[in-house]
Order: sequence, then C-alpha cells, then structure tokens
Amino acid sequence: MAIQSLQVTPLHPTFGAEVAGVDFTQPISPELYAEIRKVVDKYGVVVFRNTQLTDEAHIEFSRYFGDLDDVTPYQQAGRIHRLKYKELFDAGNIDPKTGDVAAMTDATVIGNKGNALFHVDSSFNARRAGHSLLVAHVLPPPGTGGATEYGDSRTAYDDLPQDLKDRIEPLVGNHSLFHSRKTAMPEYFKDLDVESLPMSKHKLVQTHEASGRKNLYIASYIHHLDGVSREESDELLAQLREHIHKPKYRLTIPWEQPTDMIIWDNTCVLHRATGGSYEGKFPRDMRRTTVKDMSSTRYGLNGEGADWRVGMP
Ligand code: SIN
Repeated sequence: MAIQSLQVTPLHPTFGAEVAGVDFTQPISPELYAEIRKVVDKYGVVVFRNTQLTDEAHIEFSRYFGDLDDVTPYQQAGRIHRLKYKELFDAGNIDPKTGDVAAMTDATVIGNKGNALFHVDSSFNARRAGHSLLVAHVLPPPGTGGATEYGDSRTAYDDLPQDLKDRIEPLVGNHSLFHSRKTAMPEYFKDLDVESLPMSKHKLVQTHEASGRKNLYIASYIHHLDGVSREESDELLAQLREHIHKPKYRLTIPWEQPTDMIIWDNTCVLHRATGGSYEGKFPRDMRRTTVKDMSSTRYGLNGEGADWRVGMP
C-alpha cells in the first residue's frame, strides 16, 4: 500500500505499520508531515527504521504533532536528568551519575519499572498525552530483549459486547503515576499512600477524534473508576484489562538499530517495555518526546485549561 511517497507495510491485522520513504536528515515539509500523520492516525503505531535523527531534529519534528511536554516535574521530584534537552524523556537504563548501565536498584531503573505495564503516557496529568515519539540511541545486543509492545485499544473496544459498552460508557478513570509504580514494585513502594496523592480524571471510553473510532482509555495508571462502587470498579478494571491484554490485540515491535523511531498515539494505543536479559547488563538508551494531547478531550474532567503535572524521582 502506498500513501503518496510513503511505503506503508502493515504489521498486524488491525493496527501498526512500518513506513519507509522518509528522509529524516532533511527538513520535513508540512505536506510530508500531513502524509505521515494520516498513517499514524490510521495505524496508531508506526515504526521508521534508521532515521539518523539527532536529538535536535527529533524534537523539531515532534513539534508538528503539538505542544511538547517536558521533564520538569520529575526534576522537581528529585530525578537527575541525563539528557541535554528537557523535552526528551529518558526511557533508557543509563545511570545519569556515571553514564554506565544503571544498577537494578538505581532510581533510573526503579522509575522506569512501571513502563513494563501496559500504559498510555502521562494519563496521570491533568492534560493527557497525545503522541509519543521514541528514538533508540543505544540498543542491547540482539537476542537480549528490549522490544516495545503495543495494544490496540480501538479494536479491543469494538469487540466488547454491547451491554458492557453501555455499562462502561459513563465511567471515569482516576489515573495515578504512584499507583502504577506501586503496582510494578509493591515491596519497594509499600509505604506509599496512593490515595493521598494527586489523580487525574479521564473518561474510560473515549472517541479518537482523528479516526472517529471509540477506544478503551485504560492503563496501568487507573487506580479506580468513578460512577461505580470500589468493588465493582476493581472487578471491571480486572475484566477490561484481561480483555485488552489478549494476544490478538498485541503487537511487539523489535528495535533493530540505533535511530529507529516509533511513533504512537496514546489516545488509541497502549504500550509497554518488555524488558529482557539485557537488564542490568547492557545499555539501552531510549529518548522520547511526549506531545500533549491536542484533542477536545485533552483535559478530561480536570477542568478546561488545567495543566498540572506530577512527577516522581
Ligand atoms: C515508554 O514506556 O515510554 C518506553 C517504552 C520502552 O522503553 O520500550
């Protein structure tokens, strides 16, 4: 399938594509961005191989998608930022103090542990994330893991029985960064009182405006649902998570070489880091720009214009 100059190869029956034919070493024109954007809107997650993107070009290209988020809340919470630009989120395993592979007990590793759970970026902020653009800088040796896995939340929603769709339509998720961290590392965060910390509110069923398709806006960050009892909330969340985590909604994308880039739309796709035997042994330097959601539902139920953000070291 060709969309103008782009060569688009679908990676899964319902979502995900690899795109060739874009030279990221040259300035990307608005027209070319518009073509790329059509593919991202349709497939939800798109990989570009060997882009040769520098940090600067990565940030510059990301601005086409909207307002960029930055790491200020994490720095304010005490995290040391290793990278030159605040717009680059550090999703890798490099110790910012030494430049070596971070020990499994280092804050960098602990802080990114929650990334192994299926999530959508920054849903715990008042204004949720739209797109994320993750670029590989250093990859672990082949065969040692480190792929990123995606979940198709549009098709997973489509496949729900109508009575369940009706039941969940009015519900609101309470998203907490702290909840996800505690779920990923219960022993380490056993004293964290998640309920006393900020949570953002976003509807559980959302319309993905670019495609007009509904999707299940569920993520590891959801602590509980408003609109039902706590018991019903736990039961529903478990049921919906079991559904969306089924293999048929999943796509694993391996990273092949430095400067591969994957763009995903957090408002219609879930993702997670899959880990592997490289952890604690080999560097995996991954840098992500996170674009604030530009859709009409970007603030969820947090109040129009609310832009508070939370961070943890
Ligand atoms: C992320 O969750 O943003 C990063 C995923 C990965 O490191 O594969």
